[in-house]
Amino acid sequence: MKIAIGADHGGFCLKEAIIEYFKEKGIEYKDFGCYSEESVDYAIYAKKVADAVAGGEFDKGILCCGTGIGISIAANKVKGIRAAVVTNEFCAEMTRRHNDANILAMGGRVISPEQAVKFTDIFLNTEFEGDRHIRRIAQITAIENGEDL
Ligand code: RB5
Repeated sequence: MKIAIGADHGGFCLKEAIIEYFKEKGIEYKDFGCYSEESVDYAIYAKKVADAVAGGEFDKGILCCGTGIGISIAANKVKGIRAAVVTNEFCAEMTRRHNDANILAMGGRVISPEQAVKFTDIFLNTEFEGDRHIRRIAQITAIENGEDL
C-alpha cells in the first residue's frame, strides 16, 4: 500500500506524527509537504495529494489542515476523490465501509496527534463493504460527471 500525505501549517503536527507511524509500520509513503509550521495555503497540498491518488500512483491519501475542512473541500474538487473529514473512530471506520473514501482529512486544531494516528490506522485497515454502497458511490461519480441521478 502506497500513501500520499500532505498538510498545511495547521495540520503539520498531525502529519509528522502520522509519518512516524508509517515508519514504525513500514508503510510506503510520500510526503508532499508542507515541511514546517510556516503559514502556507492548504489548497496547494490538497491538489498535490489528490492528484497523486486520483492518478492511481498512490492507494490512499492523508491530508491535514487546521480543521481538516478546507483541505478536504479542495481535495474533493479533483475528479475521483472522496475526501472525508474525520473527528472520531466511528467515522474513520464508516467512511471506508460505506463511502469508500480515498482520502482521510483531519484537523490539527481539532484532534490530537495520537487520535490522528489512531484514525489513520483504522482508515487504512478498513475495507469498503460494497453491496448497496456501490450504487451510492456511482451516484456521487454521476454528479461529478454532470449526469442526472
Ligand atoms: C489556516 O489558518 C486554516 O484556515 C487552515 O489550516 C484550515 O483550517 C482551513 O480549513
